[in-house]
Amino acid sequence: MLNIAPLSYTASKEKAEAFCSSNIALCKYWGKRDEVLNLPTNSSLSISLGKLGTRASICIGESDMLMIGGKPIATQSAEYTRLFTWINSLLGNNRPCLYIHTFSNIPIGAGVASSASSFGAILKAMNSFFGWQLNDSLLAHFARLGSGSAARSLSRGFVYAKAGIDSNGVDFNVITLPQTWSEFRVGILYVSRAKKPVSSRDGMKLTVQTSPTYKGWVEYAENCCDEMIKAIQVKDFTKVGEITERNALTMHGTMMGCSPPLIYMLPKTLEIIQKVQQLRSQGIEAYATVDAGPNVKLVFLKKDEQSIKESFPTCEIISPFESAF
Ligand code: PMV
Repeated sequence: MLNIAPLSYTASKEKAEAFCSSNIALCKYWGKRDEVLNLPTNSSLSISLGKLGTRASICIGESDMLMIGGKPIATQSAEYTRLFTWINSLLGNNRPCLYIHTFSNIPIGAGVASSASSFGAILKAMNSFFGWQLNDSLLAHFARLGSGSAARSLSRGFVYAKAGIDSNGVDFNVITLPQTWSEFRVGILYVSRAKKPVSSRDGMKLTVQTSPTYKGWVEYAENCCDEMIKAIQVKDFTKVGEITERNALTMHGTMMGCSPPLIYMLPKTLEIIQKVQQLRSQGIEAYATVDAGPNVKLVFLKKDEQSIKESFPTCEIISPFESAF
């Protein structure tokens, strides 16, 4: 376990606010090697979504309260329990009651990493509210305890989360790649805004326990990260795109081999992926990726932005290196 002094819970101000971008993994993390420490089995690499994310505010309340987008969340709900269990693990049970409000400009629980930006924003807000002044490495560790992908949301651009092998997680590490890529684009195609039927946590557990190809996934996923870092360094977009699409499809294949099968994609998801493949045969270089949900994210370069808009008029396009953080 990391040797961390208990975090203080004396408020340094009346209220604190923070924003955290969401992120999309180009090389996905799927599977935990420690459920309590929330340690990933494999490394992952993501791109920040700039202005898409979550704003969180925090102040002292008379009782714990969580509001999401202006709506109070029931104390028995999974979201409420998950959040305050995480906060108790950081502050202990004698902490003051907290009133936490989050606003996300991305759909919650639909595979667009809303938990990453929510936990990231709440952690940043707490860091300011309690005056902790935690360094990036500690922030990443605490964010990860709430949500695996949240550790990657604290930074911008390409972010590599190295899984490590130490049982206490001391070698888990989050590295922001120095490369920027102003032409890089991410497109989001919403297939469904409904909440996913199986949470990532439960889906990962099922995959680790029952998928016959899980071991192969872990080895392959590590290799994807190494290759992706090299491709980003030399700005080889074809390589970046190919790794991105294949990594996602391999993850979904691994999930589909579960007992019972785990299928997050919908028919429309596959239709989009096939259309993207067709576009490539016409010289429009876009690649698809899908998280634990049916929505599709595309990666492409600025030169193909117009063609993507024509092919997918509803596509929400993000310029990760041009948006304000
Ligand atoms: O952050 P979590 O624990 O909900 O898991 C995220 C899992 C994927 O989105 C499917 C992949 C990833 O690395 O973001």
